[in-house]
Amino acid sequence: MKAYEKLLQDNKAWANEMTEHDPEYFNRLAHIQKPQFLWIGCSDSRVPADRITGTQPGEIFVHRNIANLVIHTDVNLLSVLDYAVNHIKVNHVIVCGHYGCGGVKAAMTNHDYKYVLNMWLRNIKDVYSLYKDELNAIEDEEQKTDRLVELNVKEQVMRLAKTSIIQRAWKNENRPMLHGWVYGLKDGLIKTIFNMLPGSHLDSIYEYDDL
Ligand code: CO
Repeated sequence: MKAYEKLLQDNKAWANEMTEHDPEYFNRLAHIQKPQFLWIGCSDSRVPADRITGTQPGEIFVHRNIANLVIHTDVNLLSVLDYAVNHIKVNHVIVCGHYGCGGVKAAMTNHDYKYVLNMWLRNIKDVYSLYKDELNAIEDEEQKTDRLVELNVKEQVMRLAKTSIIQRAWKNENRPMLHGWVYGLKDGLIKTIFNMLPGSHLDSIYEYDDL
């Protein structure tokens, strides 16, 4: 059997198991999509949003990219954010990074990853640059990477708050709360790094005053 055929076979087994256990399962899910959470996570295969949070299909709206970045020109991410905030009306947006992130590690090297990856990793290098005094003072490489993972999550949460999508929802509906989390590959635990409540203030240069 080819590797991809096993996925299709296991899908059939899963669907059968679900309906055996709960005959209305798919009928119910097909008619509602009202998740409370938007998850912005890393594409890393070891960090599946639903598995590590014990949530079921229908509970989390998910966007994933390398190193869970929030880039204000990324139409893909902004469309997901707009839809989740303004149509699904989620109450929580979670940015979840993870220790040992390959994207963060790559950005800490001076290696040329060629065109597109260089562009993407540049965003993480910019985070490093913002916090370079703190980071350069850490001698242990693994600790330094882990700290950049945390700071990167914090920075991405602040970037969410800089969007008019979030500021408008904060002003008109007092939601969503923004969460910055980091998942540990070694122990499976999620650590809270940074939160922003609706209405939080940021550098005034990024605040819209006529929303
Ligand atoms: Co990663």
